[in-house]
Amino acid sequence: MSLELWTHCRAATMQAEAPQPYGLIEDAALVVDAGQLQWVGPRGALPDALRQRCEILHDAAGALITPGLIDCHTHLVYGGDRALEFEMRLNGASYEDIARAGGGIASTVQATRSATHEELLKQGAARLQPLLAEGVTTLEIKSGYGLALAHERKMLQVARALGQAHDVDVRTTFLGAHAVPPEFAGQADAYLDEVLRMLALLHAEGLVDAVDAFCERIAFSPAQVARLFAAARELGLPVKLHVEQLSDSGGAQLAARFGALSCDHLEWLSDEGAAAMAAAGSVAVLLPGAFYFLRETRVPPIELLRRQRVPMAVATDCNPGTSPCTSLLLMLNMACTLFRLTPEEALAGVTRRAAQALGLPDRGVLAAGMRADFVLWDVQHPAQLSYALGGRPCLQTVFNGEPR
Ligand code: NIG
Ligand code: FE
Repeated sequence: MSLELWTHCRAATMQAEAPQPYGLIEDAALVVDAGQLQWVGPRGALPDALRQRCEILHDAAGALITPGLIDCHTHLVYGGDRALEFEMRLNGASYEDIARAGGGIASTVQATRSATHEELLKQGAARLQPLLAEGVTTLEIKSGYGLALAHERKMLQVARALGQAHDVDVRTTFLGAHAVPPEFAGQADAYLDEVLRMLALLHAEGLVDAVDAFCERIAFSPAQVARLFAAARELGLPVKLHVEQLSDSGGAQLAARFGALSCDHLEWLSDEGAAAMAAAGSVAVLLPGAFYFLRETRVPPIELLRRQRVPMAVATDCNPGTSPCTSLLLMLNMACTLFRLTPEEALAGVTRRAAQALGLPDRGVLAAGMRADFVLWDVQHPAQLSYALGGRPCLQTVFNGEPR
């Protein structure tokens, strides 16, 4: 494998301890060796001996280079859509009203169960395409619309198949505890027994990278989530949690007790919850698309998260009910306008912090030893990535060292 050199660029390395905002390097050079960054720094500091070994030279034509974007929370694989419920909400029903009336997640469960592997793959690929066009190189996909072994397996297999068919690294999360399916109505604990059985089997089939649940009045209690997380721990799987989205259940403290990679949503996060997350090193995954789409009014406590030094990631939450969104760049803008993140925090939220939320220390920053996943942008300054609404600033994506 020959070394490749990228020059004529500015690089937002997003390195944590960098002296410049965004870890910005004017006139940068990147050396790629077999899918890995071998050297990143100011062009003038590139050692001659290394430069001479570079056989392939790339001119980035003045582009800004950032790490590949990471969407660390999606439900990208599902059947159908929920446009009619969107319409019901516009006619006065709330998300919780619809869920209690058997719509909401349950209606997507029905559509997902009746879709074949091929249908889900085709619909998933259509949603993946715009994310790839915006420079996404790592994507998390959850199950949770099957809620029965065969269908949870189908969702996870489709997620894996999307990763195989496209130049993107897909991480799968088992979300069997997303909702109680109709055949277990009123028997959440019995369904949880089934969730534990599914988890063990799907894990044995190599389909599960992490475990998630929906901790909420309309879903599972902290005590029920604790049972699931104990089982995940037995299997050596990391956990994360949809929590404090519609109410404060104290689930963030529970997640922290299990060393959760992340707690996601968090509009109702308490002081105690934030302190517990800080102590556990859990990432706060902020989902401005769901906040916007549900027209929530309570913003996640950003100042509290900053004060407690809880790392903040940003993701699309791509799903049919609360965030039918396939633009991570739009989420950067909304994280800034709705949640008041700075553009630097927002960009870190889809790079370094998103990598942390997935437990992937080999990506999310441009530095020697990291995966060679990066994006060339037609912008002068990284703040433009959060500033613009719409547009197509992505010029090219390099995935695993190869231009995509
Ligand atoms: O992340 N909060 C729970 N799960 C999804 C919504 C699922 C749905 O409504 O289909 C979310 O917001
Ligand atoms: Fe979600």
